[in-house]
Amino acid sequence: MKTPIPLALAALFALAGACSSDAGGMDEETITMRLAGLETSGEFTRINATPFESQHAAETVNVWVSNEGVDLYRDLDPDDSSAAIEDFPEFTMIVKEMLDEEGALTAYTVMVKGAEGGVARTDDWWWGMYDAGGALQMSGELGFCIDCHEANGLERTDWVQGVPMDAR
Ligand code: HEC
Repeated sequence: MKTPIPLALAALFALAGACSSDAGGMDEETITMRLAGLETSGEFTRINATPFESQHAAETVNVWVSNEGVDLYRDLDPDDSSAAIEDFPEFTMIVKEMLDEEGALTAYTVMVKGAEGGVARTDDWWWGMYDAGGALQMSGELGFCIDCHEANGLERTDWVQGVPMDAR
C-alpha cells in the first residue's frame, strides 16, 4: 500500500492552500511577484528623484512605495524628530533598492505591512531581503533589520524613516 500516504499529503497541501487564501493574507510568493513588477505594474511609486545615501550597506538607495501607503509615506519628513504618524495600511509594500558605487543594483530590502509572517514586535511588518535577481534570500523576523530600525528610533513612525526632502 503506497498510495494512501501521497494522497493524504496531497489532501493536506490542498487544505493548507485553501486556508491561506481564506485568511486573505499576503504570502511570500505574492510579495515576490509584486517585487518583479516594481517598475511595470503601476503599483509602485519611486519617492526619490535620484539615488541618495543611506545607512544600509549600500552606496546609495532608491525607495519605492506601493499605492496603499504612498501618501502617508510622503508625509514623513526624516528631519522632523517629532513626526508621529498613523499605521500604514495593510499590504503597504516598501522596497529599497541597494546600489553600488557604479549605481548597479545589488539587492532589495523589503517591508510589507500585515503580510503572512508579519512580526508582532514590529506591528506586523514582514521583513525580507532579495538578491538583485529578485530571489528571496531571507525573511520574517530579521533581527539585524529590526534592531537597527529600532536603534534609529523608527518605532515612533511605524518602523520607517522616509526619504530626505532634498532627495525627492
Ligand atoms: C544599519 C542600520 C539598518 C539596518 C541593518 C537595516 N536598516 Fe532599513 N533603514 C535604516 C534607516 C536609517 C533607514 C532610513 C533611510 C536610510 O538611511 O536608508 C532605513 C530604511 C529602510 C526602508 C525604506 C523605508 C524607510 O523609509 O524606512 C526599508 C524598506 C528598509 N529599511 C528595510 C530594511 C530591511 C528589510 C532590513 C534587513 C534586511 C534593513 N532595513 C536593515 C536602517 C537600517
